[in-house]
Amino acid sequence: MDILNFFLGRAFFRSAGSSRFHFCLVVMDSQENSPKKVVVITIDGPTASGKGTVAQRVAESLGFHYLDSGALYRLTALSALQADLPLDDVTAIAALAQELPCVFRHGRVLLAGEDVTDKIRTEEVGNTASKIAAYQPVRDALKALQVSFRQAPGLVTDGRDMGTVIFPDADLKVFLTADVAIRAERRYKQLLENGFPANIDTLRKDLEDRDKRDSERKSSPLRPAADAVMLDTSSLDIDESVQRVLDACVEKKI
Ligand code: C5P
Repeated sequence: MDILNFFLGRAFFRSAGSSRFHFCLVVMDSQENSPKKVVVITIDGPTASGKGTVAQRVAESLGFHYLDSGALYRLTALSALQADLPLDDVTAIAALAQELPCVFRHGRVLLAGEDVTDKIRTEEVGNTASKIAAYQPVRDALKALQVSFRQAPGLVTDGRDMGTVIFPDADLKVFLTADVAIRAERRYKQLLENGFPANIDTLRKDLEDRDKRDSERKSSPLRPAADAVMLDTSSLDIDESVQRVLDACVEKKI
């Protein structure tokens, strides 16, 4: 490595099972502006496609770290809502994203010391996240933070642009899809299980709106990377979906 520079990043490590947060020093290659080759598996896909659960289970199986990139957009959205910021104030929202005071610990998420694990999962925060995620300055503000998760022994990450923009050199890229009716049903059950009120028709409409916004935006639209493995989970349960990704890892010699 001829030219090195050092990037001081905030990294959230959720290694299999437990969560901890710390500041870290990441060695960066100044030409590529990405940490040196630590294995990365990216799992992108639309809302409620099951990518979060699959990504966490794959990370646990491999003993890798896990990054839920959607949580960072949700935390930014919650910060903006709590600060009563107009949702079209791109500069102020990007400034919040740049300095997110968040901690991931023992499966909980703290924002400025407040436990917001449940708050960031509401539909209001999810829909706001999808709106502010369309702003390029917000995406730019969260990029270095996401890249800094790339730590040995490896990373499994889920989102919308993990394989296309944040980790274009990922060792395995998976794009998860599922029929919209099935995704709405899964999200409905998940919300009820977690004690949130839900209406299946409203949920389906929200999913469709969010997919449309995520797919049609100019900045990092939701789309499979050219080299992604496509996985339709409509007729698969979680165990089967996880196994398909693990099989793809074996094929890629990960
Ligand atoms: O995945 P999740 O539903 O938690 O993400 C919330 C929102 O954040 C998404 O609807 C999407 O608009 C945005 N997002 C994004 N890029 C990512 C992850 C999430 O734009 N990598």
